Amino acid sequence: MPKITIIGAGFVGSTAAHWIAAKSLGDIVLLDIVEGAAIGKALDLSEALPIIRSTVTVRGTKDYKETKGSDVIVITAGIARKPGMTRDDLLKINTKIVADVAQQAIPHSPAAVVIVVSNPLDAMCYVTLKSSHHPRKKVIGMAGTLDTARFHYFIAEKLNVPVTDVDAIVIGTHGDTMVPLPRHTKVKGRPLLEVMKKEDIDEIIKRTINGGAEIVNHLQIGSAYFAPGAAIMQMVDAIINDTKKVLPCSVWLEGELGIKEVFLGVPVSLGCDGWEEVVDLRFNKEEMAALEKAAAQVKETIQSAESLL
Ligand code: NAI
Ligand code: 2OP
Repeated sequence: MPKITIIGAGFVGSTAAHWIAAKSLGDIVLLDIVEGAAIGKALDLSEALPIIRSTVTVRGTKDYKETKGSDVIVITAGIARKPGMTRDDLLKINTKIVADVAQQAIPHSPAAVVIVVSNPLDAMCYVTLKSSHHPRKKVIGMAGTLDTARFHYFIAEKLNVPVTDVDAIVIGTHGDTMVPLPRHTKVKGRPLLEVMKKEDIDEIIKRTINGGAEIVNHLQIGSAYFAPGAAIMQMVDAIINDTKKVLPCSVWLEGELGIKEVFLGVPVSLGCDGWEEVVDLRFNKEEMAALEKAAAQVKETIQSAESLL
């Protein structure tokens, strides 16, 4: 059975564990600095396994030795943004937490593919890569699968069609320079641009970019976790089952698409060794300009994170 370690047994980590257990993707270790939270949630989830007929095991711990030999490590440790908090506040706190977690976890599982979730996402991917010296193709940020799911859902909702009729994609950063791609989005095989008015598409793009904040404003005490947990599970599935599925993920670019030395959300094929290649969807001038703007913004955040390491 594959072994999946999830670090941070908070809302996102425990919900990811739930989706992963429901799909029987592998044995799960939930690790948290607050040991009781990890042990309690792991036990609670274990007690659900007979009902959902899942044969995986779920263990909670604060001891990194128990994560030894993991195939996938998911980093959700850190704090989530609350109303009134700046991205800068988050950057300072989470840079220290994520660097510490990466340094403690990765040596126990040198072959693992690491999925980074903590925010600010693209910068935390850099912090993980820099503080672990793990191969770049094995450090992958989760944001594109979540942002794509939001864009996808809003389109299906607006057109009143089942979500299974839509095929969407969002790349760029997990922030203001997110790049939803209406030109590459289809509804029942037809281009979105042919089936929805431009004003409606623009409105949905705006809502997608603000998708995280929309949930925070409703919840007040934290951020989204059902869709983020499912978006993590989608990546774990592709990695564990070596499907080579193409998903938008944040990866360290070294010249792919003409962009260098930055983590950025782009379509990549995912398999058991991490991401394999960036898939060039033949982006037009406007799409490339948006990606380059996104890259410039992430570079600035990475510089701020670098100064904290
Ligand atoms: P949460 O506060 O519910 O959970 C975070 C957990 O991390 C807590 O249980 C905490 O005890 C643990 N933790 C803190 N420091 C730790 C350390 N040094 N070692 C081990 N565990 C530690 O927060 P939630 O909602 O689960 O969010 C987690 C992170 O994921 C946040 O940074 C949030 O912004 C981010 N996020 C990212 C998304 C994305 O699309 N990339 C989507 C949703 C959330
Ligand atoms: C989200 O997009 C906060 O990154 C988190 O929901």
